[in-house]
Amino acid sequence: MVKGRERWASKIGFVLAASGSAVGLGNIWRFPYVTGEYGGAAFLIIYLIAIVLVGYPIMVTEIAIGRKAKKNPVGAFKALAPTTPWWLVGALSVLTGFVVLSYYSVIAGWSLAFMINSLGGFPEGIGVAASIFEVHTSKVLEPIIYHAIFMTLTVVIISAGVVKGIQRAVKFLMPVLTVLLILAVIRSVTLDGAGEGLAFLFRPDFGGVTAETILSAVGQAFFTLSLGMGAILTYGSYLSNKDAIPGSCVQIIGFDTVLAVIAGLAILPAVFALGFSPREGPGLVFVILPAVFGGMPLGTIFGFLFFLLLSIAALTSAISLLEVVVAYVIDEHYWPRGFAAVIIGIIIFIAGIPPILGYSAWDGVSFAGMNILDTYDFFAESIFLPLGGVLTTVFAGHVWGARNVIKEANRGNVSLKVGYWIAPLLKYIIPLGVIMVMIMTIIEDLD
Ligand code: TRP
Repeated sequence: MVKGRERWASKIGFVLAASGSAVGLGNIWRFPYVTGEYGGAAFLIIYLIAIVLVGYPIMVTEIAIGRKAKKNPVGAFKALAPTTPWWLVGALSVLTGFVVLSYYSVIAGWSLAFMINSLGGFPEGIGVAASIFEVHTSKVLEPIIYHAIFMTLTVVIISAGVVKGIQRAVKFLMPVLTVLLILAVIRSVTLDGAGEGLAFLFRPDFGGVTAETILSAVGQAFFTLSLGMGAILTYGSYLSNKDAIPGSCVQIIGFDTVLAVIAGLAILPAVFALGFSPREGPGLVFVILPAVFGGMPLGTIFGFLFFLLLSIAALTSAISLLEVVVAYVIDEHYWPRGFAAVIIGIIIFIAGIPPILGYSAWDGVSFAGMNILDTYDFFAESIFLPLGGVLTTVFAGHVWGARNVIKEANRGNVSLKVGYWIAPLLKYIIPLGVIMVMIMTIIEDLD
């Protein structure tokens, strides 16, 4: 080991970095389209329940494990339960980091491309906007180049280290992104016919809820809060013992949730007003927002700024994904940081090429009706993240012990303490609940 483990410069530094990890494509790209796909308000409510009952306890737990062990996910499980096979959960985390970042960077690349292309102005009208997305994704070289650019940026920041790279950017960018999103909300809800979209988002109809709906809401909660694969655990490993964990979690989760709801408000009313279907899938944001900005005064500038900030929000999330894998090879295999970042960056870049080709050369390839990118996303979000989260709670509740989680979480200058109510959640309710929903989803799919 070359030098000692880095530390966040301050508590606010940690909160900002973790918020930067949480707020990203999951809020602005993913949340609106899965909410659209799974029927709107009913999904939103289940998602909010999942945030409180599953997201909060797991976030507290991941940070507590990370801070206690001061290690990457594999090293952390080894440190807290030596001579047991629990380090395999850490290994699953590292693998999940690979998969998520490989397609995450592809979507972030779309955002970069839209940012550059927006300089020519977004054309008015939804038909044209839909075709911009199709034209872009049906190319091969351009999306690969933007994916490469995005991975390069991620690698550069991670090579620079945790504090210098991550902390500074987030503080300024998140507020600006919020303001731009609010502008898009104002525009979107004042369009003719937006009311139908508002009803879709806020008037629940539980009739269509299935196990798959619940699993998707839980998966979205994991994805948007960066849980279930050791990213927040790794960030927690750089946290000092003085800093409060429970209050930080409330801030991070609160901010993330507000941004997701604002993104839903910016996009779903416009979907209905412009006569589009909410079941458009992963292209939704890239189709709707250009149309929203296209017909708006100063639309070119707002459109450009929006995709610029979306790209940056994606970057502050992507670095947390790469950091998991990099921290693992630094801690466990003594690779130098810069070398680790570059080599792993290249492998992840290559893993991202099939999802790109799935929209063009390999558009015939499908798995259960999904293209390659959707398949990566499905495995990550419906299987790996919930599984990682469940195994983490079982470990925390039964092996390391819920008491130890709570003790570690409440250490330091805490004004808000985490209560013993999370113990039964960690030990029984989350693992059984999530596993049951996963099994029920598989049974539904077999029918
Ligand atoms: N939370 C990020 C988003 O919403 C994505 C992300 C970053 C993530 N780190 C993660 C998702 C770890 C799962 C696990 O865009």
